Amino acid sequence: AQLAANRSAWEGPADALPAAISACTRCPLHCNATQAVLGEGPLGARLMIVGEQPGDLEDLAGKPFVGPAGQVLDRTAADVGLDRTQAYVTNAVKHFKFAARGKRRIHQRATRGEIEHCRWWLDAERARVKPKMTLALGAVAAEALTGRATPLLPRRGTIETARDGGPVLISFHPAYLLRLPPGAAQIDAMAAFKADLHLAAELSA
Ligand code: URA
Repeated sequence: AQLAANRSAWEGPADALPAAISACTRCPLHCNATQAVLGEGPLGARLMIVGEQPGDLEDLAGKPFVGPAGQVLDRTAADVGLDRTQAYVTNAVKHFKFAARGKRRIHQRATRGEIEHCRWWLDAERARVKPKMTLALGAVAAEALTGRATPLLPRRGTIETARDGGPVLISFHPAYLLRLPPGAAQIDAMAAFKADLHLAAELSA
C-alpha cells in the first residue's frame, strides 16, 4: 500500500531522537531488519554524508558504512585528508531492505514512499546537526535530500539545494563503484568520487 505522507516535523527533544528512530514502525521495513541504523558522528559536524540504507553488515553491526562500501568511503576519504569521524554519517533510509535468497540477504532499493517516510528522520537529523555542507552518496540520498529523482550521472559533481536550503554535493554511491567492472570506467568513476570527497572536505572546512 502507498504509505501516507506525513510531512510535519518530528518534535521530540533532540536527545530522544536516537531512541525514537530505533523504535520506528512508520513503514514495514522495520519488520525484517535487525535494527535501525542510526547516524553517527558529532552533532556539530560541518559535513553530513548521506548514504542510501544500511547493508547486510551495517544491519548486523548497527553502524553505518562498516561493510565493503564503507571501506571504499573510508579509503577515499583518507586519500583526500577527510576525517570521516569528523563528519556526521547517516543514511536516507534507516532500515535494511532485502530479499532473502537462501542464507543470503540481497539488497533491495527502497520505494519512493519508503524514502519519503524515512525523510522524517533525516530531516530531524539535519535540524540537529545543521551541516554546512552535505555529500549525497547515490540517487536515493540525492532524492531524499533534494526531492529530485532524476538520473544521477548528469548531476554528479554538482551542488544542488536541499529541501531545507542547504548545499548538497551529489556523488556516486561507493557500492556503485564496486559494481563497475574493472577497467577505464571504474577508474574514471573512482577518480570522480575522490574529487567529490576532496571538494566536500574543502567546502565544509
Ligand atoms: N550503503 C549505504 O548506503 N549505507 C550504509 O550504511 C552501507 C552501505
